[in-house]
Amino acid sequence: MREKDFVAGEYSGPFLDGKVTYRSPSNIALVKYWGKKEHQVPANPSVSFTLDTSATTTTLSYTKLAAPGKDFSFELLFEGKPKPDFKPKIHTFFSRIAPYMPFLKSYHFVIETSNSFPHSSGIASSASGMSALALCLMHLEKELQPGMDEIYFKTKASFLARLGSGSAARSITGPLMQWGQHQDTEGSSDLYAITYPHKIHEVFEGYQDTILLVDKGQKQVSSTVGHNLMHGHPFAEQRFKQAHDNLSELRRVFAEGDLPKFIEIVESEALTLHAMMMSSLPYFMLMKPNTLHIINKIWEFRAATKLHVCFTLDAGANVHVLYPASEKELILQFIKDELIVYCENGQYLCDQIGKGAVAL
Ligand code: PMV
Repeated sequence: MREKDFVAGEYSGPFLDGKVTYRSPSNIALVKYWGKKEHQVPANPSVSFTLDTSATTTTLSYTKLAAPGKDFSFELLFEGKPKPDFKPKIHTFFSRIAPYMPFLKSYHFVIETSNSFPHSSGIASSASGMSALALCLMHLEKELQPGMDEIYFKTKASFLARLGSGSAARSITGPLMQWGQHQDTEGSSDLYAITYPHKIHEVFEGYQDTILLVDKGQKQVSSTVGHNLMHGHPFAEQRFKQAHDNLSELRRVFAEGDLPKFIEIVESEALTLHAMMMSSLPYFMLMKPNTLHIINKIWEFRAATKLHVCFTLDAGANVHVLYPASEKELILQFIKDELIVYCENGQYLCDQIGKGAVAL
């Protein structure tokens, strides 16, 4: 689908008041998106595991206005309380999606949102939050265009979520999602994510992600700033090419269940992401000493046991520990015995690969 396919046609359904709730998960990238062009177009394709328990639940109540307003009309409640500091982000999101959703100024919205993970845990809620809101808005648009099919619904939800936060495009379905045009994947697009269409070996079923909360503080450098520092970055072109190559290689890895190669690509991607940050100008570092302690412990444990545990990182100090469900017992025990000590207040979250967002 092209951009013009997302501009809404005539609305035939009645403009009714209503309410809808979606629960949308977070996701963790295996091949990372880092660097973007205008309009949230990624500089390279990425692929992610959709998570299961780390999720945002959003209820959107909508009331038709007597006449369309000059500006967007909405209230925002986070965990039951008004949250004025989130409003500018939602306002920006509405402005970006308004060309594709002309009904937005015809309603007053109440957006009630909450996360399954603890507040200020250092877990970014932008992917789960923006995808949940995009899906709620699609529900309303489907009422206005009753003939809309399921594929268009999900594709446009991903397209809209991307305009809120790039990685949010990948939180609509699961268990794997690919976002960004790539030569080996027909139907892949820079504008939205698609459900990974190639074979996935059964070893990835129920794949575990234990998220170690190393540092719950506010990031010193936002991902928006980080993405922008890839413009003029001395290693940018090589990095973007590497992401394409890793996606090509992962196709075989996913099909065959080649875990040693999976581990190599995933860890290399995580360290490359942080290497890009450390070699930007200005340079910065989001890993903390405990991030490195954890990585070294994982490497030692893997060498000693030959179990298939590995790590990945997002744009922060927290560590995602990935492992197959069949090795869960031994690896979770290792995490509890040796890694939790590096977490802030001993906090960690147990998650696993999930199927995507659901309407409640
Ligand atoms: O969606 P953003 O703009 O917050 O960027 C996310 C970037 C990474 O989490 C570091 C990588 C990714 O692909 O999710």
